[in-house]
Amino acid sequence: MAKVCVITGGGSGMGLEAAKFMPKDRIILLSGRTESKLQKAVAELAALGFEAYEKTCDTSNRESVKALAAYAVSLGKVTTVINSAGLSPAMADPETIVRVNALGTVYMNEEFSKIMKKGGVIVDVASNSAYVLPKFLINKKLYALADHDEEKFVKKIVKKAKLAKGDYQRSGFAYALSKNFVVWYAKKCAFEYGPKGIRVVSLSPGLIATDMGNLEAKDGGMLIGFSAEERMGKPEELGYALATVADERNGYLAGVDVLCDGGSTNGMREFKKKK
Ligand SMILES: NC(=O)c1ccc[n+]([C@@H]2O[C@H](COP(=O)([O-])OP(=O)(O)OC[C@H]3O[C@@H](n4cnc5c(N)ncnc54)[C@H](OP(=O)(O)O)[C@@H]3O)[C@@H](O)[C@H]2O)c1
Repeated sequence: MAKVCVITGGGSGMGLEAAKFMPKDRIILLSGRTESKLQKAVAELAALGFEAYEKTCDTSNRESVKALAAYAVSLGKVTTVINSAGLSPAMADPETIVRVNALGTVYMNEEFSKIMKKGGVIVDVASNSAYVLPKFLINKKLYALADHDEEKFVKKIVKKAKLAKGDYQRSGFAYALSKNFVVWYAKKCAFEYGPKGIRVVSLSPGLIATDMGNLEAKDGGMLIGFSAEERMGKPEELGYALATVADERNGYLAGVDVLCDGGSTNGMREFKKKK
């Protein structure tokens, strides 16, 4: 049976770059909300010799995710999920950010873990923003609500985000909280799905020169100076990182966050210590 790799947010950025590093025996299913972007990305992969398909899906809608999972199964055995769909602070209000980044990850992991078998892998894309929050804002009990009271979960996270002053800062807070949640949630899923032989890992990029990263560079640009080489990451570098984390030869990599940010989180910590 053909092996299928599903990539949300696969119409652009690091999701699409990850597809290009997948083994050629894999059927690639790209997903996102914009059909035209997906069609262009599928044509790009086809020109590189991949068998690729697209299906629109809004990951913040569970029914849409279920339809994506059903379509993926119709193509073959789903072995790989890279959940790269996401919205950044400049793109949306706090509630939309939490619904897409946090609940979208919950729907993807839950629905795909139901159809995946031993040897499967789910890679959830988080962010190094997950590491910038003050400890008092991180509340694991609040995160646990995502499993049984989604509306309360969203309301409480949005309330925390509103502690910030200004629209962009509020969305920024919501983004950091949503990504901190993704790191926590992926870890939790690793231990839940591990006994079934499904591996779960999160990967946290730093500032990467994708459409999203370029849009955020004005406000997130200070991170560049903290990275070891004082530069943004390249989309293809993150594509390769995602593909290698997903590679089945990396079978012992589970229940952790892979921080792929050119050293900027540690650079910033050292800077703060010296201050
Ligand atoms: N670039 C950075 O500096 C950076 C840093 C840290 C983390 N990240 C994370 O990396 C991931 C990939 O981002 P990127 O940099 O590659 O940016 P990107 O090119 O903007 O990719 C994000 C993709 O997500 C899709 N998407 C957005 N909302 C969606 C939804 N509700 N359902 C399904 N798909 C949705 C978008 O397509 P549609 O709009 O067509 O749906 C887009 O293709 C994101 O999760 C992002 O938060 C990025």
